[in-house]
Amino acid sequence: MITIIRMLPLMIILLFHPNTFQVSTDWVAPKSADEVINPLSGNAQAIVQGKQLFTNMCAVCHGNTGKGNGAAGVALKPKPADFLSAKIRKESDGALYWKLTQGKAPMASYQAALSDQQRWELINYIRELERKYKD
Ligand code: HEC
Repeated sequence: MITIIRMLPLMIILLFHPNTFQVSTDWVAPKSADEVINPLSGNAQAIVQGKQLFTNMCAVCHGNTGKGNGAAGVALKPKPADFLSAKIRKESDGALYWKLTQGKAPMASYQAALSDQQRWELINYIRELERKYKD
């Protein structure tokens, strides 16, 4: 009985904690990220490099066209981001770059695995996917 009473505050916290029922809270990059300029903006070669990285490292979750429907992504919570969605198309390059750098479970941080240049190449390729496949 005593144990139950001791655990009551913890149980209440769990009950009201947003993660308990997988209510995904929006992932928002800090405002300062929006001001970071994409150093590879308009660079066609960066899209080619980005495509290769994306196919090898990201498509498994985000899908080949970036729709968030990769084979390894279907069971994830939250689901992999759909880069073709209006919400993400509106986000700045800097915000996407920040998120790719930081990561957020179940997606890893790519700060150590990829160079700054490679991460910007990926952002360019995400923009290219949006241009190509958005409906
Ligand atoms: C293990 C599966 C997985 C892999 C691999 C993965 N991601 Fe993700 N990614 C996710 C999930 C899940 C989210 C959504 C996280 C959330 O909203 O809380 C996400 C979100 C993102 C976002 C943020 C979208 C937004 O604006 O909210 C970006 C950008 C992104 N991924 C880029 C990439 C890139 C580029 C790669 C390859 C280097 C990659 N991801 C690899 C699962 C993955």
